[in-house]
Amino acid sequence: MNCKFCNSNLISVINFGKMPIANAFLGKSDFKNEYFFNLEATVCERCKLFQLSEQPEPKLLFHENYAFFAETSTVMQDHFKALSNELINKFNLQKNDLVVEIGNNDGGMVYYLSQNKYNSIGVDPSKNVADRAAEKGVKIINDFFDYRCSEKINSEYGKAKFFLSANTLAHIPDINSVFRGIQNILDDEGIFITEDPYLLDVLKKVSYDQIYDEHVFIFSLRSIQNICEKYNLEVFDIKKLETAGGSMRYYIAKKGKKIISNNVKEIQNYEAKLFESNEVFDKFRDDCLNSKKSLNNLLNKLSNENSIVGYGATSKSTTIFNFCEIGEHQIKFLTDTTSTKINKYTPGTHIPIYNYEYFNENMPDYCFLLAWNHSKEIFKKEKNNFSVKGKWITHLPEANIINDDNF
Ligand code: TYD
Repeated sequence: MNCKFCNSNLISVINFGKMPIANAFLGKSDFKNEYFFNLEATVCERCKLFQLSEQPEPKLLFHENYAFFAETSTVMQDHFKALSNELINKFNLQKNDLVVEIGNNDGGMVYYLSQNKYNSIGVDPSKNVADRAAEKGVKIINDFFDYRCSEKINSEYGKAKFFLSANTLAHIPDINSVFRGIQNILDDEGIFITEDPYLLDVLKKVSYDQIYDEHVFIFSLRSIQNICEKYNLEVFDIKKLETAGGSMRYYIAKKGKKIISNNVKEIQNYEAKLFESNEVFDKFRDDCLNSKKSLNNLLNKLSNENSIVGYGATSKSTTIFNFCEIGEHQIKFLTDTTSTKINKYTPGTHIPIYNYEYFNENMPDYCFLLAWNHSKEIFKKEKNNFSVKGKWITHLPEANIINDDNF
């Protein structure tokens, strides 16, 4: 087991055991052919990059039937729109400047930019979401982004003034190839903006469900800086975000081109202290095991006399259900608004998933908030609906019954 970035030794943080593909919601006929791998979180002893020890082939995850459509969340749409406005208003984006976004899913920032006639391209390997983006007018390359792809873009469109990635970089195991591609494609005065779930949020919230096949890495500022250093890049600013369960946005440029903000220096010092020893990772392992125990206790107790439904068939819930060995005897069904997940079953644990109408007709006593990263949006939607008669359950940082105003 070696680090995917620097090839040094990996230290095991927690082994979640046998795990199916998190987003592979399946039909009954597929139960017997389900694919499993060993989900283990590790940290590199040298560069502290938090990563999976093994993960399925990317082609098993990003394909013509990718289950996640970003357009299902209005909050995420507003978030992407705000970042595309930031490029225009703060960074003075010009109509001819090339903007490349990787993992733009069914739209992304380039959707808003292309609507306003900015020169932009999206790159996404999953055909169904890429087709949806194309339908909405986004110029799209349906491919994995790596050095080879950067060469293709360079020769057809030239250098990028902005290179964007939201919840994508953490998905790509060959991180060196992506950064070689970014170094290759980025204009000398260009800016690379990337955001992903932030390691310190995962450790603090005990949101171990952020760990699944697609999240090959969970970055800290330190690990991003280490990677940038190798490719002559530099983080010049950062911004803490509430999205995706707690994220960090990194603003990156070629070395020496920008003044480094105080935000960067502060977080850098904070992380340096935290990562002096491996204590923080030992504590995380204990916290995960405690969270599992408390969730089993609560669900077993409640499910004797109450109906419980899971809200949001998230990838994250696959880690929770399989790690905590939760099945239909505790959770009656899951509800989700994504058409490709409805009437399917959860990976590994085979709990049925029904649409929102079914949920409304079969309202339970409790809802386990699985899409907790969309809590604000969901609580708002359910204020005069489920929340009137039902109660919410969370597993973060340990299992609890919560009110929609104290989560
Ligand atoms: P997502 O945020 O992508 O989490 P993950 O990365 O863990 O898969 O998924 C959120 C899921 O929740 C998605 O399938 C849509 C669903 N959802 C609802 O069913 N209702 C809602 O109101 C919202 C906001 C999301």
